Amino acid sequence: MALERTLSIIKPDAVEKNHTGAIIARLEQEGFIIRAMKRIHLTRAEAEGFYAEHKGRGFFDELTTFMSRSSIVVMALEREDAIAKYREVIGATNPANAAEGTIRKLYAASVGENAVHGSDKPESAAREIAYFFAGYEVSPRA
Ligand code: TYD
Ligand code: MG
Repeated sequence: MALERTLSIIKPDAVEKNHTGAIIARLEQEGFIIRAMKRIHLTRAEAEGFYAEHKGRGFFDELTTFMSRSSIVVMALEREDAIAKYREVIGATNPANAAEGTIRKLYAASVGENAVHGSDKPESAAREIAYFFAGYEVSPRA
């Protein structure tokens, strides 16, 4: 499996609870290289643009209100099989269904406030990384 990139977000609930460092440390332990990273506070419109694929679903308003509530940390992460591996490390969308030891099991309170985001496929990863980072902000392989 070749090196791959995924877009990671530490969501407002986890940043508010000061879990940023623990989550980043865990991701580094799991072999992810941070190619880009920043802390930002999205507007509602920016959150809606990011989650455009979910527009029209019942949870969309709640989701985009939550995502623009306070600051988030966004990262472009790289490793072998990054997209699938990252989703394994974060666990199921609903923390009640997430495996023991996963980031959502450890840090998330509910399906609506579930601590982290991860891309679901290569096309999403490319779109999501480009949504937050200009090309020059993503460091090339050392
Ligand atoms: P989704 O892309 O299905 O999950 P994931 O983040 O695991 O890729 O949904 C995006 C976010 O929307 C999810 O992280 C939390 C929120 N959400 C809800 O609040 N309720 C729901 O029933 C679903 C499916 C998602
Ligand atoms: Mg998703």
